[in-house]
Amino acid sequence: MAEPGLAASDSLRIFFALWPDDATRDALNRTGKWLHQHWGGRLMRADTLHITLAFLGSTPVEQLDALAACADTVHTDAFELILDQAGYWRHNRIGWLGASQTPPQHLELVGALNAALRGAGFAVDARPHVPHVTLLRNTAGGELPACEPVCWPISDFVLIASRAEADGMHYAVIRRWPLA
Ligand code: 2AM
Repeated sequence: MAEPGLAASDSLRIFFALWPDDATRDALNRTGKWLHQHWGGRLMRADTLHITLAFLGSTPVEQLDALAACADTVHTDAFELILDQAGYWRHNRIGWLGASQTPPQHLELVGALNAALRGAGFAVDARPHVPHVTLLRNTAGGELPACEPVCWPISDFVLIASRAEADGMHYAVIRRWPLA
């Protein structure tokens, strides 16, 4: 998996993610604006919205093929994720949208991907996975009325490279893997 303009020894900040289709992105963005009205903080740009499946961090370009080989071993059926629960983490001041019920296919996808990465020697996060879309940063949380659910049809997962710019993080999809 060659990356244009990069030498094999260059590094990219990398993670696997669920990346929303346009309709889901619009719905997530609406929920983000709604949450921002209640909680304030810094609203994430619509083009950054995603769910992280496995975070690798700074990774040499020459390891991208090995990462892709791990993703190739994952065979999970497509599924629908219903995001119906807004939440707040005090330790990092993130406001997020998550699922009151995580579908078994989602857990299977995350489990299989992380196991393959670990088996290939990649250092992935050992903390239990909590599926969430970060909508706000630097927020203080608070009381909230019930939130309107976002139904997200999941038919693939992606490898993302991220880079920090003056206006925040920018993400590029490097490759997609379809679900059955
Ligand atoms: P967050 O949204 O909860 O901050 C790109 O940074 C993505 O990877 C974000 O979704 C972020 O989660 C997640 N992420 C960042 N650092 C991470 C880490 N050390 N372990 C797991 N996920 C991380």
